[in-house]
Amino acid sequence: MTAAPSAAVDLDRARVAELIAREGAALNERTARSREMWERARRTLAGGVASSYQLREPWPIYLDHGEGQRVWDVDGNEYFDFHNGFGSMTQGHAHPVVTRAVEERAALGTHFAAPTEDGIVVAEELARRFRLPKWRYTNSGSEATMDAIRIARAHTGRDTVLKIFGSYHGHHDAVMVSIGVEYDRIGDRDDLASLPYGEGIPQPIVDLTVPVPFNDAAAMERRIERLRDEGRLPACLIMEAAMMNLGVVLPEPGYLEGVRELTARHGIVLIFDEVKTGLTVAAGGAVEHFGVVPDLVTLAKTLGAGLPSGAVGGTDEVMAGVEDGRVNQVGTFNGNPLTMAAARASLLEVLTPGAYGHLRRLNDRLLEGCGRVVDEYRLPGYAVGIGAKGCVTFSPVRVVDYETFKAHQDVELTELGWLWNMNRGIFATPGREEEWTLSVQHTDEAVDRYVAVFEELARELTR
Ligand SMILES: Cc1ncc(COP(=O)(O)O)c(C=O)c1O
Repeated sequence: MTAAPSAAVDLDRARVAELIAREGAALNERTARSREMWERARRTLAGGVASSYQLREPWPIYLDHGEGQRVWDVDGNEYFDFHNGFGSMTQGHAHPVVTRAVEERAALGTHFAAPTEDGIVVAEELARRFRLPKWRYTNSGSEATMDAIRIARAHTGRDTVLKIFGSYHGHHDAVMVSIGVEYDRIGDRDDLASLPYGEGIPQPIVDLTVPVPFNDAAAMERRIERLRDEGRLPACLIMEAAMMNLGVVLPEPGYLEGVRELTARHGIVLIFDEVKTGLTVAAGGAVEHFGVVPDLVTLAKTLGAGLPSGAVGGTDEVMAGVEDGRVNQVGTFNGNPLTMAAARASLLEVLTPGAYGHLRRLNDRLLEGCGRVVDEYRLPGYAVGIGAKGCVTFSPVRVVDYETFKAHQDVELTELGWLWNMNRGIFATPGREEEWTLSVQHTDEAVDRYVAVFEELARELTR
């Protein structure tokens, strides 16, 4: 669901800055224990966190526990959780079915590095949901996309990787390219820049990855033809069918079908990175929702129900390299029994057809509520979402790719929206790019609270 931005009011920017300062100070005030913890943590943990994505100025909010649709921070502040572990906890926290499965498995031994039956059941269920017959496991989304690219390279005997400019696919070198780039460095639309995302990534690896704009099959076709003429046709295109990590950017009608046809025509392996969309936008992810079947799918996040997990699924042809041993798809913890027990219980007993109906209904309620507030107060933005995911994108025009995102996203309003939520019991992902993820344990109470808090902000901004 998506709405066109309405004719917006001119916001008083001094007022926005004032509110950011006020809300920031209030959040600092209520997170004193987090500050203490951060001061202790940074003596031994680099930056005081386990992953740079957990960083936040002036300090991160340290969590204590979660239950159902709620989390509590170390200061005892209670929140409805719309962050949900970067969209991993579609089951909600401490779901009794998952907890029971993990406890039962833990008592039987948690790791053998030998296959167990749960791993077969999970693969059978994934094959059914994603319409792809052959599967392997990893321990994270990054490992899944790394392995998928290797499988595609082996299948085609080619090296070049095509990706969508601005899309995040994990932290290995081949995909840490052309993300988070400043607007003036994006480059010409037909020749977008291949730029490393941070230091330590060798330029020759960066040069093997070629970005193209989202939602533009014609630009992709022109780029592929030029690469063909240069003798470096891509091995694969890795993409999200609906872009996450820029809020939510939906594919235009016909775009995915165009991409499917184009990649098939050039023998390019089409990888749908469903680390975020898989198991959240529908039971069978974007494959089911959009009805376009790629050659490979990557999963992680929601798959493990809160345990580290990942998977690569593919056609018999593309996965043949793994089966005949040409590609070494390996890992000590792949198919870990604890993860597989959690995934099995989650897929068969929690993420049921009824659960997806619940997620869709709640998300529609949330999107409609936010859309109404945007319209009524004529805010520069729109509500957009799919399945369990959505966001309010503060932008006077609809974002269709990274370029429009960078050109139009209202950074200050996005920052204010986050602080405002956190001070009113809505736990959301810090950062400009994220979207909300609902869980099966979310209720009308949580989404109505979200809308009420948003309306309070709208009133404050426009009075
Ligand atoms: C679309 C997408 N792919 C891959 C990844 C990497 O997953 P992980 O953080 O589990 O390595 C992410 C992480 O946010 C993601 O959003």
